[in-house]
Amino acid sequence: MAESMNGLKRSHRCGELSLSNVGETVTVMGWVAKQRNKGGIIFVDLRDRSGILQVIFEESDAGAEGFAKAEKLRSEYVVAVVGKVEKRAGAVNENLATGEIEVRASQVRILSEALTPPFPIEEESKTKEELRLKYRYLDLRRPDLQSKIILRSKITMAIRKFMSEEGFLEIETPMLTKSTPEGARDYLVPSRVHPGNFYALPQSPQIFKQLLMCSGYDRYFQIARCFRDEDLRADRQPEFTQVDMELSFVDVDDVIAVNERLLKFICKDAIGLDVQLPIARMTWQEAMDRFGSDKPDTRFGMELVDVSKTVAGCGFGVFTSALENGGSVRGINAKGQAEMPRKKIDALVEFAKGYGAKGLAYLCVLPDGSYKSSFAKFMTEEQLKALVEAMDAEPGDLLLFAADKNSVVWNVLGGLRLELGRQLNLIDNSKFNFLWITEFPLFEWSEEENRYMAMHHPFTMPMEEDLAMLETEPGKVRAKAYDIVLNGTELGGGSVRISDDKIQERMFEALGFTKESAYERFGFLLDAFKYGVPPHAGLAYGLDRLVMLLTGADSIREVIAFPKVKDASCLMTEAPNVVDQKQLDELGISINPIEEKE
Ligand code: AMO
Ligand code: AMP
Repeated sequence: MAESMNGLKRSHRCGELSLSNVGETVTVMGWVAKQRNKGGIIFVDLRDRSGILQVIFEESDAGAEGFAKAEKLRSEYVVAVVGKVEKRAGAVNENLATGEIEVRASQVRILSEALTPPFPIEEESKTKEELRLKYRYLDLRRPDLQSKIILRSKITMAIRKFMSEEGFLEIETPMLTKSTPEGARDYLVPSRVHPGNFYALPQSPQIFKQLLMCSGYDRYFQIARCFRDEDLRADRQPEFTQVDMELSFVDVDDVIAVNERLLKFICKDAIGLDVQLPIARMTWQEAMDRFGSDKPDTRFGMELVDVSKTVAGCGFGVFTSALENGGSVRGINAKGQAEMPRKKIDALVEFAKGYGAKGLAYLCVLPDGSYKSSFAKFMTEEQLKALVEAMDAEPGDLLLFAADKNSVVWNVLGGLRLELGRQLNLIDNSKFNFLWITEFPLFEWSEEENRYMAMHHPFTMPMEEDLAMLETEPGKVRAKAYDIVLNGTELGGGSVRISDDKIQERMFEALGFTKESAYERFGFLLDAFKYGVPPHAGLAYGLDRLVMLLTGADSIREVIAFPKVKDASCLMTEAPNVVDQKQLDELGISINPIEEKE
């Protein structure tokens, strides 16, 4: 039978007590983390979100009834304890923040009994994630998970404080809305009142924040939930949170400046990290050429080298045919790895194939200066020497080359570089390398759709100097778009928007929209622009990713209280699920069973 608090008031959280409270009578409440019965004396570790506190029960203080209750305590029972704070008689526990004290109980109430949990609630749990997610409410009691969720709250508070001090207004935008143009699939919500019609959940507040600029709110922000039906990875969830902002009367540098101050503020406030400003900037072209990625991890080197000129006209058909087809040959130098076993090199080749490579050519410069290579036989001694020189290789180095279209070569070597960085322990985990990537291409070619797609979104402003190529060479047009990258993860992205309806029309045309279809989707925005629109620009961070990186979590699931798994389901609530026939009937929906994909 559970007892009630019946007048008891909590005086402290468990972790708040220290030597300075010695002698005080306190009332603490929490969960039993552990109970140890040593005969006439019982030790209980009491846990709440602030930490763990040792409580000690002896019949002389707690009375016969209190001691009997203490004997009954099991893990995860919820109890209230009144007692006196004492300096520990036994050894100090260095692992506990409260390790120098204990509370000698004079009263105890069992507020709730508990079943034995399906897994132990402990730091660095070894329990399978599936089981922990099914009982997420228990997993969330773990101190290491709690500290991340608590830090997340601290970070959102810091963001609100900073934004409000900088004159941003927090304004909410609708969840039930029309499809937004971020390029993923929409989550749809059927309308009962308008049978056969659907709302879309927002992929971002993009259009609404631009409309708010038209309405004169000149600095907007929102901590906004976004929904994207896309394939999930460790840093993606179907619903996630953006720190979204938009500013009027600004250009690229203004957005970057305010965001650098924001990042500095958050990092200092959340983890005491001093971010040096200004944050480095790199154009998209340079990022691809040097790192094979638009979100380079600059914590280590092993940069890509373009050897197309060096190998032009050599006897190796794989290289020359890639060049003839307009591609390139590039390589990376894995320093000191020339004696990597053949098996491991083969595994790297397989890894590269996973990134779309047809193969991976290698050249080991052995310590005696001779070569072991998959292609040396097709080249002259001079050609090999030139290649080794171009790669800045010394005896002992392993050179890996990919030859293909630029996009494939970048992707393969960019992926391989990261893999080798991990395998060879080249990444300094104490570093926080922020980096702006600027001058993104405006479009990317979609093989699937056989047309250009907006790389960011269709409202992104082309760079003025490239505007003339919008119709003639769209692939070469650069955008006033920027991403903020931290340690190889894209934290956020944004752009200056088009605020000229002529340019917006040209943009839609380049994307293959007819005037009608553009109007059908975004007519309200195009109309709004006709009534006076300020130049505007903005950016959105993935809050989950930011918190993940600042807390050192491996996955964004660790910083979201109730996350979903890879197939977008929630293991605890079992959403998504079937609904009653009555609900479907009301919505005018009939289900056409689709065979479930593996
Ligand atoms: P973008 O699509 O780049 O830009 O999104 C901004 C940031 O949101 C995060 N993010 C995600 N986080 C977790 N799970 C996901 N599925 C997911 N998708 C995106 C990333 C990303 O950098 N409206 C524009 C912003 C703007 O132009 O102002 C936008 O949504 O960290
Ligand atoms: P092959 O002539 O296909 O047997 O390839 C000879 C060597 O070149 C092998 O080591 C292949 O892995 C490698 N190779 C094949 N295609 C490519 C490519 N596109 N880029 C780099 N190396 C490749």
